[in-house]
Amino acid sequence: MAIREIAQMGNPILYRMAETVADPTDREIARLAEDMKDTLVHVGGSGIAAPQVYESLRLVVYRVSARLINNAAEDADPWVVLVNPVLKLNDAETLTGWERCLSIPGLHGKVSRPSSLTMTYQNLNGDEITLDTTGALATLLQHECDHLDGVLYPMRMTDMSKLEFNAEPGHLAQDIADGVKVWPVLQGLVDAWPGRDRWLDE
Ligand code: NI
Repeated sequence: MAIREIAQMGNPILYRMAETVADPTDREIARLAEDMKDTLVHVGGSGIAAPQVYESLRLVVYRVSARLINNAAEDADPWVVLVNPVLKLNDAETLTGWERCLSIPGLHGKVSRPSSLTMTYQNLNGDEITLDTTGALATLLQHECDHLDGVLYPMRMTDMSKLEFNAEPGHLAQDIADGVKVWPVLQGLVDAWPGRDRWLDE
């Protein structure tokens, strides 16, 4: 068990195409996935990709939580390890939401992405798995798999005015005032914002 250092925006490893994992059942891969889980628990995150812990491999770890998946069973194993995931995006509809990234601390930004996708991946036993998903999980998977192709969420943004500091969440606060539903962690930024009463059009 080990908590890994997280690469920050600007580090070259975050802009590389990560390597395919040759053997998903390799014990070193399982060990890396465990370290990624420990790191996520330590920082309180939902998902992380191997390049973020300085391993240029196509490996993602995320946890399915009740706040993300409405029908997630409380006692279900929340951890999912994706080896060599491939996403097929359905861009008939897009979903716009606020994102944060462990490699970009202190900021959040608004990103539009396809709202549904089909993912194929291998698990640590080498089984091939296919998953159809929509909504918040589809967004999370696109964010994490983008890390495998050297893409960070600001590179997906079309309106850079919606990139803001966590300490000054003006556009995010306006979205919430307008009735947009956001994750509790984002709501918390707005609740803690001293400018809330001064600037918001209620
Ligand atoms: Ni990220």
